Amino acid sequence: MLDFLGSLERTHHCGELRAAQAGQNVVLMGWVNRRRDHGNLIFLDLRDRSGITQIVLDKELTPEGHAKGEQVRPEYVVAAVGKVRLRDADAINPKMPTGEIEIEATELLVLNDTRLAPFSPSEEAIQNEEVRLKYRYVDLRRPEMQRNFWLRHQITLAIRESLSTQGFLEIETPILTKSTPEGARDFLVPSRVHPGEFYALPQSPQIFKQILMISGFDRYFQIARCFRDEDLRADRQLEFTQIDLEMSFPRQETVFAVVEQFLSAGFAAAGVTLATPFPRITYDESMRQFGSDKPDLRLPGLTDVRPAFTDAALATLQIDPALPVVALRIPKVGELSRKEREDNHPLFDQKKGAKFIDDFKRLAKGFPESAVKVRELVGAAEGDFVIIVAGDPAHPVKASDTKFAGRLSEREINVYSAAGNFRSELAKKYADRHGAFGVTEKTVRDADPKSGVIDGSAAFNPIWIVDFPMFEYDLATTSWVPAHHPFTAPHEADMANLLTDPASVRANCYDLAMNGLELGSGSIRIHRKDVQQQIFQSLGISDEEAHKRFGFFLDALEYGTPPHGGIALGLDRIVMLLTGAPSLREVIAFPKTAKAIDLMADAPTTVTEQQLKELHIRVALKS
Ligand code: AMO
Repeated sequence: MLDFLGSLERTHHCGELRAAQAGQNVVLMGWVNRRRDHGNLIFLDLRDRSGITQIVLDKELTPEGHAKGEQVRPEYVVAAVGKVRLRDADAINPKMPTGEIEIEATELLVLNDTRLAPFSPSEEAIQNEEVRLKYRYVDLRRPEMQRNFWLRHQITLAIRESLSTQGFLEIETPILTKSTPEGARDFLVPSRVHPGEFYALPQSPQIFKQILMISGFDRYFQIARCFRDEDLRADRQLEFTQIDLEMSFPRQETVFAVVEQFLSAGFAAAGVTLATPFPRITYDESMRQFGSDKPDLRLPGLTDVRPAFTDAALATLQIDPALPVVALRIPKVGELSRKEREDNHPLFDQKKGAKFIDDFKRLAKGFPESAVKVRELVGAAEGDFVIIVAGDPAHPVKASDTKFAGRLSEREINVYSAAGNFRSELAKKYADRHGAFGVTEKTVRDADPKSGVIDGSAAFNPIWIVDFPMFEYDLATTSWVPAHHPFTAPHEADMANLLTDPASVRANCYDLAMNGLELGSGSIRIHRKDVQQQIFQSLGISDEEAHKRFGFFLDALEYGTPPHGGIALGLDRIVMLLTGAPSLREVIAFPKTAKAIDLMADAPTTVTEQQLKELHIRVALKS
């Protein structure tokens, strides 16, 4: 038999009461986390989002409450009426914030029962993620998940406040719109009113925020939902949230200062101090030093070990002398057996035309001086794992490789990025065993943001990446394609080379990376129509095509557009880093699986014939 609440009102949350409140009459409500039956005494751990309090049902004091206590099961929803009392000294639980007290109940109301879920929120680690996602409502009750969303809220709030203080106005932009140029596939929404026509969901508010600058809003921001039909990964969802901003008359530095301020505020809300200004590195340097355009500064970078080898040695080792010879060092891995090393080999990207040497004993036999010099150059300590990555001369040189005069060639980039990927895969693999990251992910996860004691300031390493190349060479079309969306301005100094030497043109854009993750990306935009036309021309986009795709925006550009620029940061990724979560699914309330399914809502699904008819759509599935 269930009870009605009647006029009963909750007086406190379950994580709130302390010894100072002993003697107070209270009413708590929540879920039964655990129940222990000691005959005449039944103990209920009552849980809500703030924590857990122990309720004692004494048969003598409340025979009726005790009888109900015999019926309740974990996850029943109950109200406990009673008095706060100090626990006996031997019953104090120092691990619980409420561990010094308990509630001596005078009444228990059973407000709801429950079906048996396949797992309990009080379980620490639930292995089967599909079950968690199907029963997401139960999963989200888990203290870890509650904490993630509490933290997400605090971070968002702090960022909003910081941006508002910095003069940014939050303005919403449409969800039903036209294709936006971020390079992923669009989600399309058919129009009922206009047969055969479609809206696109925004991949970002990019065009609208630029138009808001033309409209004189000067500083815009939005915690914006974005939609991209792309393959999902741990750090990618179909719909995600950006901290999106745009400002008028900025220099790159102006944008950096704004971001550094709001990001510091967001991290401070999680108890982490970020040192400002963030360091900066050019794209080329980042590739050379880290083999990545989103470097993880918690690990040692790559070292150029070409000087450790004679030309003859390189020839014998079958290493391409024209390409970089770099070494990576993973600290504190310890001696690895041959088998252990071989298990690492699938982590190396063979396709990039690079090869590696991870067997120093063998290297030392043939080239003892080189082996010593390499370890010296990388500053290897006892137990550090060192690997050499170099170009494979057997890998064919492509036509495009000649097109990169004056900047890193594609082949060089390939060697660096093969090394960079291997470096981060190995570091991840050995992180927990050897603490290669210094502060492990787990340390961060275990800390309590509410008390502000994540001792993780050293664990978060932001860095700006600047001077990206403006164009990439596309082998398929044998043409230069934009490396960014086509509204990204080139450096003014490089404008003269747009048509004559596209490879040398640097984009006035920037990324923000942290711990090997791309957190954000932005640019100073093109604000002049003549420059925009030149860019389209250099990209081989005809006037006609440009107008079809972005006509309304190109028109707007002609109505007094101020110089402007901005950036967008992935909010989900920020929260993922700060919670130490392994995937975005831990910090998005109702995420999609890797197969793009919402297991709880069971989406996507088929729709009725009638709905399709109204939308003028016929489904043609191949059977
Ligand atoms: P970009 O496409 O680089 O730039 O996106 C900016 C940031 O958004 C996050 N992000 C994602 N997070 C989760 N799932 C995804 N599928 C996903 N895709 C992107 C990343 C990324 O750094 N309009 C430009 C910004 C600008 O130029 O102002 C843009 O959207 O953290």
